[in-house]
Amino acid sequence: MKVSEKPEKASQGGSTKDSKSKVPSKASSHVQHMSKREVIKKFPVKANLEDYATTYAAFSWESARSELAYFAGGKINAAYNAVDRHMNDGRRNKVALYSVDSNNNLEKLTFQDLYYLSNQMSNALQSLGVEKGDRVFFFLPRIPELYVTTIAIAKVGAVAGPLFSAFGPDALCDRLQDSQARVIVTTPALKPKLDEIRDQLPDLEHVIVVGGSQHSLKATAGELSYEELLEGASQYFECTQMDPEDPLYLLYTSGTTGKPKGVVHVHNDIIGHHMTSKWVLDLREDDIYWCTADPGWVTGTVYGIFGPWSLGTSVVTYEGRFDAVDWYELIDRLRVTVWYTAPTALRMLMKAGDEVVFEHSLQSLRHILSVGEPLNPEVVRWGMKVFGLPIHDNWWQTETGMQLIANLPCLPVKPGSMGKPLPGIQASVVDDHGVELAPGQLGRLVVRPGWPAMLRTIWKNQPKFDEYFRIPGWYFSGDNAWKDEEGYFWFVGRADDVINTAGHRVGPFEVESALIEHPAVAEAGVIGKPDKERGEIIKAFIVLNKGVNAGEELIEEIKEFTKKQLAAHAYPREIEIRDSLPKTRSGKIMRRLLKAWELGLPTGDTSSLEEE
Ligand code: PRX
Repeated sequence: MKVSEKPEKASQGGSTKDSKSKVPSKASSHVQHMSKREVIKKFPVKANLEDYATTYAAFSWESARSELAYFAGGKINAAYNAVDRHMNDGRRNKVALYSVDSNNNLEKLTFQDLYYLSNQMSNALQSLGVEKGDRVFFFLPRIPELYVTTIAIAKVGAVAGPLFSAFGPDALCDRLQDSQARVIVTTPALKPKLDEIRDQLPDLEHVIVVGGSQHSLKATAGELSYEELLEGASQYFECTQMDPEDPLYLLYTSGTTGKPKGVVHVHNDIIGHHMTSKWVLDLREDDIYWCTADPGWVTGTVYGIFGPWSLGTSVVTYEGRFDAVDWYELIDRLRVTVWYTAPTALRMLMKAGDEVVFEHSLQSLRHILSVGEPLNPEVVRWGMKVFGLPIHDNWWQTETGMQLIANLPCLPVKPGSMGKPLPGIQASVVDDHGVELAPGQLGRLVVRPGWPAMLRTIWKNQPKFDEYFRIPGWYFSGDNAWKDEEGYFWFVGRADDVINTAGHRVGPFEVESALIEHPAVAEAGVIGKPDKERGEIIKAFIVLNKGVNAGEELIEEIKEFTKKQLAAHAYPREIEIRDSLPKTRSGKIMRRLLKAWELGLPTGDTSSLEEE
C-alpha cells in the first residue's frame, strides 16, 4: 500500500544532476556566482485569483461553499474534504504526501493510502472509546503517522491537539492538563518527556506509541502500539458528519502574559483553508508543494495539511532540521514548485550565501511565500536575485486560522508590505476606540469578525476570548500596522513592542530591517529600553555574519549606517553583539525575552523558545 523508497542520493537524483550541469560549477568565476539568475521568472500564465478588484467586490464566503463537500443537512467534515473525497475525483492514486525523513529516505503516500490508513486509525481510536469532542493530542516528529493521525482524529469527530516535538515536559503538561486530553500519540524517542509528567495527567487514558517494541510498552499505563492497533482495525470507516461549528483542532499559543492559551478552530474552517490555498498559495493540479512549518504550529496544520489537501495537492514534508544545502537539495530532488517558508529561514539561507544557491538548479520553483514575522525588503530583493522570484509575504495568526492579508500572485509585490486583504476579508487600521484611520497613520490592525476560520473560543477561557473583541465591531489582532493609499498593509510590530523614543513612534521592524542591510549584520532584534531622558531608547541585539570582527569601531559604524539608512531619531543608541538571538520554534525573534533579559524581569512562558 505504501510506496517506500530508498533515497536516490540527492546528488544523484535526476533534477539535481541535470541542473548541476546547467549552473556554474564551484570552480567557475565568483562574479558569475554572485550575479542574478539570468531570467527573472514570470508568474505562469494566470494566477488562480486573476482579478483582485473584481473578485473582492463580488465574493461572498457563502458562494465558496460550493467548492467543498457537504453531507446532507449541511453537515461537514474537514478530513472528508482533505482526503476521502479524492477517492472519487480522479486523485485516488495521486501522491498526497512525499515524506522525507532525517536520513533522506523518501516515503510516498497516495490519497488512497491515506484514506485506508486514516480509516484504520479512526477505527482504532473508536475502539478505545474516543468520541466526538474528545481531545486527542499528538506529539510526533514530521513522519507520515502524524498526517494519518490528524486526519483520523478529525474523521472520528474528536479534537486534534498538535504538539511540537521539541516541547519539554512543562510545555506538554500545560497543554495536556488544560485540554484534559484523553489520548496522545507519540514515539519511543519522545515518550520520556511525557513519562516525566504522566502522574499529573489524570485524564490521559491512552498513550499510542508509533514504532515502539511491544515489550517496552506498559499496558498498565495505557500504552499501546500504533502498528498493532492499525493491524487489527478495518480499512473502512464512516466519516463522522459534523456540525460546521464543531471543533476540529485545538492549538495552544503564547500570549504576552500567562500560560499558553488554547485556540479552538472548527470544521467550517476548511472553507477558508481551501480558498486561501487556492488564491494565495496558488496551488494547481501538478504542483509539488512544500510547507516548511511543523504541524505543531498553525502554518503546518492549516497549510501543511488541510488547505493543500482540500485542493488535492501533493504535499512535501521533511523531518530534518534547517540546513541550507539539504533544503536546496530537497527542492531539486522532489522538484518542488510552491514553497511556503518563514523569514528567519530565508534570512538563514541568505546568510549561507549565494554560492550555495547557484550550486542548485531550483528551476522547478514557481512561487515562494513567507509568513510569521516581518519579511525584510532586503530578503525580498535577495530572493529576486537568487531565485528569480519575488517572495510573497502574507499575514495571519493562530487565532485567524487562515491567511487574511497577502501579496497575491496577481498583484505587484511591495517589498516590506504584507499585501492586501483577501476577498471576503475586511481589514482596517483603527485607533483604540475603533475609529478607522487614514492611510499612512499607525494604529491597531483589526478585522471584521465572521471569516470562516476565525477562532471560535479560547478553551475554557472566555475572558481571554473576549479580549480579542475589546474594540467594538472588530477582531483585534494585537498587531500595529498602517495602510498605504493603494490598500497595502505594512506591519509595524506587536501592539506592545512599539517603541516611543522622544515622542517618536518607531517600529522595531524598521530598525531591524535597516540593521540587516549592513553587510556585517546577519540578524537583529530591537527593543525599547526605558530611558530617563527620552522615555525609551532603541536597543539592538545583533548577530554578526561569519568572519566579521566585533569591536567598538564596527558598532559605531553600524549606528551611523542605521542613522543614515533609516532616520536620525530611529537608530539604536545601544548595540549589543550576541552569538544568537532567542527565537520561537516558528522562527520569530522573541523580543519579549530580549526585553526581559535586558531589564532583569521574569521571562514568562518560554516553551516555544528555539534552542540553538
Ligand atoms: O505579529 C504577527 C506575526 O505573527 C503573529 C502571529 O503569530 P502566530 O499566531 O504564531 O502565527 C504565525 C503564522 C501565521 C502576528 O500577530 N506575523 C504573522 N505574519 C506576519 C507577521 N508579522 C509580520 N509580517 C507577517 N507577514
